[in-house]
Amino acid sequence: MKKVYLHPLPVRIWHWINAIGFIILILTGAQIRFVDSMGLMSFETAVDIHSWLGFILLANYFIWLLYYLLSGKLFKIYIPPFWKPIEFIKNSIRQAKYYGYGIMIGDKNPHHPTPESKFNPMQQISYLMIMVLLIPLQILTGLILWDPHLFSPLGSLIGGIQIATLVHTGLWIFFSAFIIVHFYLATLGHTPMAHIKAMFTGYEEEHEEH
Ligand code: HEM
Repeated sequence: MKKVYLHPLPVRIWHWINAIGFIILILTGAQIRFVDSMGLMSFETAVDIHSWLGFILLANYFIWLLYYLLSGKLFKIYIPPFWKPIEFIKNSIRQAKYYGYGIMIGDKNPHHPTPESKFNPMQQISYLMIMVLLIPLQILTGLILWDPHLFSPLGSLIGGIQIATLVHTGLWIFFSAFIIVHFYLATLGHTPMAHIKAMFTGYEEEHEEH
């Protein structure tokens, strides 16, 4: 096996603060939404934790954003090659076939990550959507719900507090499902812990021939 340095320190710091924060936000969000049936903690405690953590993850988002903007790697790593659409679609289908079938019969993963091309096409499109669209949208709707008066111009722009609530709750459902699928996919390395370990050490292990 050879080691490839895939995850720089700022990305790892951002990722694990974000992962722990998201799990707690999902749980406290459920407590806030289902006040009578959850019974994890009081409504007030859930609101307090949810709001504080929301601001911590807002600041944490800037670690990710600044790292990728300042290193100039955002475009290279996150943006799918829209100038080669046929190749991108072909590679996406190949990757989906691997996840849906090939992996069950012992095929090798068709994508071999390098620091310049870390993500397979399915990761690239989903991570791009999450990082530049869905997380910012969750943050903005969260701010509107946190202080509707202070953020009323933003609330009006988005169509009112009901729309903000709908989007924020809809994304809560999306992120709850995402975490389960993302965790499952993270266990599909050459050992179940290989990718997760790499997200701590920075180094992914690859077979010598790649
Ligand atoms: C149980 C919690 C989590 C685990 C075990 C986990 C695991 C991992 C692992 C192993 C990787 C590296 C392999 C890969 O590129 O897919 C990764 C990358 C990534 N994860 Fe997670 N993750 C978790 C939670 C989350 C959450 C909550 C989000 C966002 C809402 C997230 C977003 C990402 C993104 C965007 C990357 C790519 C980061 C980069 O290299 O720029 N993860 N995760």
